[in-house]
Amino acid sequence: MISKEEAVHILKEEGCEEKVIQHCLLVSEVAVKLAEKNKAMGRTVDVRLTEIGGILHDLGRAQTHGMDHAVVGAKLAEKHGVEKPVLDIIKKHIGAGITPEEAFFLGLPNDDYMPRTWEEKIVAHADNMVKGTKVITLKKRNKILKENGADKELRQRIKDLAHEVDPDEPNDFDVETAVENDEE
Ligand SMILES: [Fe+2]
Repeated sequence: MISKEEAVHILKEEGCEEKVIQHCLLVSEVAVKLAEKNKAMGRTVDVRLTEIGGILHDLGRAQTHGMDHAVVGAKLAEKHGVEKPVLDIIKKHIGAGITPEEAFFLGLPNDDYMPRTWEEKIVAHADNMVKGTKVITLKKRNKILKENGADKELRQRIKDLAHEVDPDEPNDFDVETAVENDEE
């Protein structure tokens, strides 16, 4: 497994903006805490893999901020010799994963974009809990998604993922009605 320093070096070498790097570091930090929490629950989670996946998850933003940044990022990381489990974390980090139908309509290459391992699920969720360089609540994420036109099904999937990787959090709001601006 590459080191944290090597991972940050890859972000810089590919030309990620400083704010993207700071975002990646915070997502990684949130993901590591969750990985440890999941481990304590008796789940098999590789904390180091989660940490490196978190740092590299937005590598593709060096080239594009489109929905294809996950695919682009995985390719860039592969070029640097990054391990396959990290490539999969990068590829599957968007929202709570992308279904085959969504991938088709987005014009993404035919592939599996659903997070399946704990490390993949944790990084995807941690990314949902960070906006830029700030940690936000799931309720706030739901509001942002709704404002950006995400449908109820997609927002529910993100909430379900949150519940799966962080069952202690009482996120018991309804994705459709909970849109009040309570945490800026
Ligand atoms: Fe991303």
